[in-house]
Amino acid sequence: MNEYMTEEEIKELAAQLRCPTEDEICELMEDSNSFMISETLKKLSLGVGDVVMELGPGNGHHLKSILKTAKEAFIVDISDYTISAIGERYSKSVLEGKLKTILTDGVSIDIESGIVDKGFTVNTIYFWQDPISYLNEIGKVFKNDGEFFITFAHQDSVKDLPFVKYGFELYNEEKLQKLCEGSCFSVSELLLKTEKISSKIGEELQRDFVIAKLIKSS
Ligand SMILES: C[S@@+](CC[C@H](N)C(=O)[O-])C[C@H]1O[C@@H](n2cnc3c(N)ncnc32)[C@H](O)[C@@H]1O
Repeated sequence: MNEYMTEEEIKELAAQLRCPTEDEICELMEDSNSFMISETLKKLSLGVGDVVMELGPGNGHHLKSILKTAKEAFIVDISDYTISAIGERYSKSVLEGKLKTILTDGVSIDIESGIVDKGFTVNTIYFWQDPISYLNEIGKVFKNDGEFFITFAHQDSVKDLPFVKYGFELYNEEKLQKLCEGSCFSVSELLLKTEKISSKIGEELQRDFVIAKLIKSS
């Protein structure tokens, strides 16, 4: 991961960020996105007995603390690799029926309707193929008044990174708000945060990111 990557390597990096097939990229994401994840988890403020869902967990190191508190956790991902790696890492919770791993095609989500209290997703919205339909599909699994947090890098911070031209749909606050207007969620809070990170190609940069809190309407 450095400034001398070829265009082919940058393209491959973009594909791995969209749908990881190996541990190395998941570890890299964990390093560079840990602040986004921990700030999202603070806002999520999980309570004992909550049923929680995460969409696109990457390597899922952060699931350890979630599994201590939640009654039940679902992770949903398009990556076979991610789903099986997390299933192995948390096999005890899977066996106990506390953690359910769900492979999605990015269109439908195979979870019973109306059972999730709280959910979150970090750095996945860029890859949603049909965002309004998918947001409504996600919404189905939530209880009424359930809370869903979408965390994403602000488009102004990342638009010039070389890999985003390969299939990333970038968002700002207005675009997110507009997306939600066509969905079963309403936006209750938009929080803008800033951090300094080393980018996936080795540059130092300031990254602004948004944590959007959505509420499922009846
Ligand atoms: C860039 S990684 C982010 C991982 C982690 N959340 C983080 O911030 O470090 C994107 C993750 O979302 C998953 N993903 C991509 N599109 C998805 C979709 N439509 N539904 C569910 N998961 C998706 C990928 O397989 C991957 O695990």
